[in-house]
Amino acid sequence: MVFTLMNIITSASLLACSLAEISSEIRRCKAAGVDWIHFDVMDGVFVEQITYGAPVLKSIRACTDMFLDVHLMVDDPTRQIPFFAAAGASLVSFHIESRCDTAAVLRDIRSNGMRAALAVKPATPIETVYPYLPLCDMVLVMTVEPGYGGQGFIPETEGKIRTLRSYAEGSGFPDLDIEVDGGINADTAPLVRADGANVLVAGTGLFGAKDMSAANRMLKGEQA
Ligand code: DX5
Ligand code: ZN
Repeated sequence: MVFTLMNIITSASLLACSLAEISSEIRRCKAAGVDWIHFDVMDGVFVEQITYGAPVLKSIRACTDMFLDVHLMVDDPTRQIPFFAAAGASLVSFHIESRCDTAAVLRDIRSNGMRAALAVKPATPIETVYPYLPLCDMVLVMTVEPGYGGQGFIPETEGKIRTLRSYAEGSGFPDLDIEVDGGINADTAPLVRADGANVLVAGTGLFGAKDMSAANRMLKGEQA
């Protein structure tokens, strides 16, 4: 199936950068042509580790005008939404597997002026998001198990991306953004783009590259 051509957006996961150099790392992303900054929030309950939250995002917002793509890996996102809105988030994703009223949290994200997205773990059937698509600007299909950067892409997740893109096109959501996150690099980016993903998160693939702007062009499918 050939999908509607969409602009490819890249989102740099800060987990892979030197956190002590965060403002200069973000400037480096902007100079390299990266579109969004991906901010992974882990609470030590939904996943093992604890990273950072809204106060850190607020400091980041003070030093950049870039689109801030927040990925909540938290047990219950309900109370977090107003904090991230006040901190300057552009978009908030949370997991369909987290414990909350999914529709209410999606509505709350939008009513706080942000784009709303649902994230799905590799083992969760993609059909679980269908009832929520009218409330979603984006769906984040995890291509690794959430919790750590630097893992290998799980090939079985490709079918979920394809299924979601064809369902969205056939059901009145042709503009739905589909984000992929985990193990995205020069080898896996062509696969997920062909499957219908249009927002590509990369941590290691961007910060670990010798030339970030060449790596960014590879992710977008442009000539390096
Ligand atoms: C994993 C995070 C990812 C991760 C991606 O739980 O959601 O955003 O940082 O890192 P790479 O691109 O290195 O797999
Ligand atoms: Zn993420």
